[in-house]
Amino acid sequence: MPTQRTVLTHLHHRHLLGLEEYSAAEIELILDTARHFRQVLERPVKKVPALRDRTIVNLFFEPSTRTRISFELAERRLSADVVSFQAAGSSLSKGETLRDTARNLEAMKIDMVVIRHSASGAPHQLARWTAAQIINAGDGAHEHPTQALLDMYTLRERFGRIQGLRVAIVGDIAHSRVARSNIHGLRKLGASVIVCGPATLLPAGIETLGVEVTTRLEEALEGAQAVIALRLQLERQQAGLLPSLREYHFTYGIRPEHLERYPDLVILHPGPINRGVELADEVADSPQSVILDQVTNGVAVRMAVLYLLAGMPRPEGETGPAQ
Ligand code: CP
Repeated sequence: MPTQRTVLTHLHHRHLLGLEEYSAAEIELILDTARHFRQVLERPVKKVPALRDRTIVNLFFEPSTRTRISFELAERRLSADVVSFQAAGSSLSKGETLRDTARNLEAMKIDMVVIRHSASGAPHQLARWTAAQIINAGDGAHEHPTQALLDMYTLRERFGRIQGLRVAIVGDIAHSRVARSNIHGLRKLGASVIVCGPATLLPAGIETLGVEVTTRLEEALEGAQAVIALRLQLERQQAGLLPSLREYHFTYGIRPEHLERYPDLVILHPGPINRGVELADEVADSPQSVILDQVTNGVAVRMAVLYLLAGMPRPEGETGPAQ
């Protein structure tokens, strides 16, 4: 029997700190709104005036290619005033604290802050210290909510639904903010999730989040419609958590034989890819891979997040797919 869907017109939250605290209805509102912006991005004029009077600061304390550029594009497409802050070359290198940086930014009357930081909880601290609205662009090993939203958008685009899908998440589950946000989001929208990796990279108690757990790749892929291969942080090998990258590839890497065995399996990866480790070249570049679709959809998803957090309503005509 189909589940009763709550259709929201506005978000209930001021910030996007993680998907753990967002409801299924709020996540669906973001995905429905992103579909509207995905269409806007196909038009000759890709810009809308929605955030014309807003000022957004992008605070990236860790390296980023996709997320930083994607947020900047999304902000500019919504006509916001945008300031991008690089930790290198800022007063942080002179010993300024995050709190003082936040207070100084606030004194400049900004409306929103997009923050990436190596410390889990940094966006939450910022939300306490400033009146600006905070968007988490990845905090430590905690959450990366817009990555999970764009992953879910891409899955919904491919399958028409999230409800009832079986999604495998493979790799370094213990240190992955992408895994944590996807687990929260996918479970809320009715997918089943199986996480897979070496025992040293599976956190104790992960099953309390409502996921199945395995150390066997074949068990994870069997019956799955999609696999999210996580980037392996190469320093884990130095930390003694992995025998060798070659062995990892032949135990947990998605390889051409998996494409043959599971021809309908859709491959996702948040990037950047370690080719020959998480994914063989032939897999990353195969028609079963939706990795570049994820990147394209990321701009629309981030436009939707910024637009809705600014208090704007669900775009007209967007009622979402039947689930
Ligand atoms: N997916 C992701 O967060 O990539 P970047 O580190 O390049 O932003």
